Amino acid sequence: MDIRLATNLDRDDIRNIHLSVFPEGEREIVSNLAIRLLSEETTPQTISLVAEADGAVVGHIAFSPVTIKYNKVWKGYILAPLAVKPEYQKRQIGSKLIESGLEQLSTMGVHALFVYGDPKYYGKFGFNAELASSYSPPYELQYPFGWQAMTLNKGISTESTVQISCVDPLNDATLW
Ligand SMILES: CC(C)(COP(=O)(O)OP(=O)(O)OC[C@H]1O[C@@H](n2cnc3c(N)ncnc32)[C@H](O)[C@@H]1OP(=O)(O)O)[C@@H](O)C(=O)NCCC(=O)NCCS
Repeated sequence: MDIRLATNLDRDDIRNIHLSVFPEGEREIVSNLAIRLLSEETTPQTISLVAEADGAVVGHIAFSPVTIKYNKVWKGYILAPLAVKPEYQKRQIGSKLIESGLEQLSTMGVHALFVYGDPKYYGKFGFNAELASSYSPPYELQYPFGWQAMTLNKGISTESTVQISCVDPLNDATLW
């Protein structure tokens, strides 16, 4: 299994992976998010990675930058979305996609990485609700317990709760 940066040529594969794993009602919106993030131009960059196995793209993950007001030094990212084709799940492909992103973001000097998902899955990578509680997500959450974060590089702490802003494709209340 290999992990590499995604390109526009992976569009259809990425769309199909998300369509195949998310339930009706979510699958269109999440696959559209994945595709929009693929061509989202940001500084620092939005990162899309794919996992390849048996000559095909079987997993995808994206990391996009988030910002807070009044602090241009702080660097944050959010992990979304993540999916592995059903027949390739439970082979550590999801874990490797996450770990590969963590490595890259740590090297880039990113301070905090956020995720909105199942704590039972993301907790084992070091995400937790405590750090996330200092940062308000851009929309009211349907599942507040899913809001988690982890520190990648220390150095900056917040004294009160701050609001984070996301890239455009994530600015959709139905995703939260
Ligand atoms: C979540 C997902 C990406 C994990 O991919 P994967 O390649 O199977 O992950 P890994 O092999 O690294 O880890 C698998 C383990 O995570 C567990 N797991 C998967 N989803 C989980 C969840 N929501 N809560 C708790 N554990 C979960 C599996 O049961 C498995 O446990 P095991 O190793 O004890 O058997 C994949 O299940 C998927 O695409 N799910 C549908 C889309 C989704 O939920 N994406 C995340 C949205 S926030």
